[in-house]
Amino acid sequence: MVTPNNKELKMKETDLIVSKTDTKGHLTYCNDAFMEFSGIYEEELLGQPHNIIRHPDMPRGIYSQLWQTIQQENEFFGFIKNLRNNGGFFWTFANITPSFSGDSELVGYFSVQRYPMPEGIDFFQSLYQQMCDVEASNTQEAMDASTQILNDAVQDKGGYNEFICSFYR
Ligand SMILES: Cc1cc2nc3c(=O)[nH]c(=O)nc-3n(C[C@H](O)[C@H](O)[C@H](O)COP(=O)(O)O)c2cc1C
Repeated sequence: MVTPNNKELKMKETDLIVSKTDTKGHLTYCNDAFMEFSGIYEEELLGQPHNIIRHPDMPRGIYSQLWQTIQQENEFFGFIKNLRNNGGFFWTFANITPSFSGDSELVGYFSVQRYPMPEGIDFFQSLYQQMCDVEASNTQEAMDASTQILNDAVQDKGGYNEFICSFYR
């Protein structure tokens, strides 16, 4: 387990971090940018759960929203802070979608992470902090309160999807 530090590796506008998972979220594919940003080799990534790059500053509430969204066969968008193997971090703007076989069976999930708009990082960084604070007590009430913080923050902005995509218009 690496100890997180404050060294940031910033994505460039031309960078694209791509990964694929099976239906349980275990990695089946990572591109070179994924390896470069995570600092982890392909051999150590494939077959591992995608939380191998989970950063402790990320609230559980956002991942429950992510899984709820993709399991309902919708696409998820989100600003994500990920952990590097040297303890550093990188922010991304992720788009995660379900993948289907030719006969419409769910075969896994597909993620494309790209340059995160700085205004979005500013907004979500402080929101995630508030969510982590309420999640600290580790109860169902705490998780509900965390989800409530997320919903309240985007309610007057047209909802989560509308707001998050507005950073790219
Ligand atoms: C296609 C796909 C991409 C994902 N990308 C990330 C990611 O970049 N970082 C991350 O921490 N979790 C990502 N997740 C979510 C993880 O599966 C996991 O839910 C999350 O890291 C929280 O882990 P935990 O439940 O063990 O706390 C992704 C999931 C899928 C299906």
